[in-house]
Amino acid sequence: MSQIMSGEEYAISRWPDTDEILAKLDHLVKLPMRPIKREQMTVYLEHFEKSCHRSKELNEEASKYIPGGVQHNLAFNYPFPIAINKAQGPYLWDVDGNRYIDFLQAGGPTLLGNNYPAVQEKVFELVRECAPVTGLFSEYELKLAKLINRLMPSVELFRMLGSGTESAMAAIRAARTFTDKARVVKVGGAYHGWSDQMVYGLHIPGTGAMEAFGIPSGCLKGTDEVFPNDIDSPKGLRALLEKNQKKGGTAAVIVEPLGPECGTRPVTRDYDQKVREVCDEFGTLLIFDEVVTGFRLGLGGAQGYFNVKPDLTVFGKCVAGGYPAAGGLGGRRDAMSCLSAGVETGKPRAYVGGTLSANPLSCAAGYYSILEIEKTRAHIKAGRAGDRVCKGLQDIIGKYGLPYVAYNHGSICHLETSGVLLLDMTNPNALTESGPRKRMMEEMGAAFEAEGIITLAGSRLYTSMADTDEVIDAALEGFDRVFRSIEAV
Ligand SMILES: Cc1ncc(COP(=O)(O)O)c(C=O)c1O
Repeated sequence: MSQIMSGEEYAISRWPDTDEILAKLDHLVKLPMRPIKREQMTVYLEHFEKSCHRSKELNEEASKYIPGGVQHNLAFNYPFPIAINKAQGPYLWDVDGNRYIDFLQAGGPTLLGNNYPAVQEKVFELVRECAPVTGLFSEYELKLAKLINRLMPSVELFRMLGSGTESAMAAIRAARTFTDKARVVKVGGAYHGWSDQMVYGLHIPGTGAMEAFGIPSGCLKGTDEVFPNDIDSPKGLRALLEKNQKKGGTAAVIVEPLGPECGTRPVTRDYDQKVREVCDEFGTLLIFDEVVTGFRLGLGGAQGYFNVKPDLTVFGKCVAGGYPAAGGLGGRRDAMSCLSAGVETGKPRAYVGGTLSANPLSCAAGYYSILEIEKTRAHIKAGRAGDRVCKGLQDIIGKYGLPYVAYNHGSICHLETSGVLLLDMTNPNALTESGPRKRMMEEMGAAFEAEGIITLAGSRLYTSMADTDEVIDAALEGFDRVFRSIEAV
């Protein structure tokens, strides 16, 4: 039976025309930048000095004890990171009492909205009764694994882990053990966490080991990258897997199903299916990294939406409902069996572990969150909010005649203003342009923040079930205020 359910079951109400988006993004990158007017930027920066004293003080103090003064890559740090001390529904509050609409959503896990009471209550109950961690088996591991198996039938066996990074590592290790092949292919620009072997072709396709500081070259010897959407060119996926056959073969191809960085470089609707077919031709496992798409796109994940069955699926974020230790790996019984825990299995074993892996708190939080998503249809509601914010942004962009590009896959909305995320190594100016374009994106993020809107680095917005029409419309007024003060050409 087809895994795909009706369009209504998934957050994407209409597949955006990938070719049209790619053409617009290409155009944006070729144009001169259109930043915020200098005098308006000064006003925004003054806002932080006037209204975010306590955050600034805390950050200055933190710089003495924490590298760069902030721990999290997503903690937007221009002009300085704001310190958050309250989160509820669609909002965040900082230590100076300013309220923000939260389109960061901690990087994606809080699809139900911040601090969703029904899940919070279950987590409190668990901590009161059992403790967050025991190191022994808990029924919630089973409940979560069974639930995921019901929603994503490709996940015959499931292993809960501590993060998306660990889970991608485990997937690669399992694929290598199971296939007895060494090479792994990723798509340039994609992010699969920060393990040694995956810091390759990060952000900008074609850059290989450019960001692999501190990583011995040997760790990356088995990693290859291909350009997004390229299956059949002489440098495409098929040619690469063919070439790799002479080097002992490819254990796995790992993809983000919407395209690198959650569709920042969107792939066409049939891309994953084509990757599946090429993997089958070469006896290579297909790994879907559903760290973002899992449950956010729909209960069946991207694999349900595209109706493509991966061999292994990497989980993170929503799998623990916004609570800590969010990671997991699931897939085919035969391939997953090489991860068997326990003292002795007598077979080649891909070693994974983790003191906090599969702790009862994370498993219970994930289990109840996913049940709540199912009950409330949070993914659909968040997807409609994504449609609304995206349509609103497109209207504002059109109204002011800007070259910016907004598009969404349900509750994952992209807003490209500087085009920095679209540079690639086929562009001879990619490295010289990346600095100024990155600064422009940071300024945008700061301007949105000054208008009371938190985005992911000024270029991505996650919506949640808590984002009512009123919340979205208030955010659009803020975006309008920023976009009305853009420098003329
Ligand atoms: C697609 C994807 N894979 C893997 C990861 C890594 O997950 P984690 O941050 O939990 O290690 C992320 C994190 O943002 C991600 O977006």
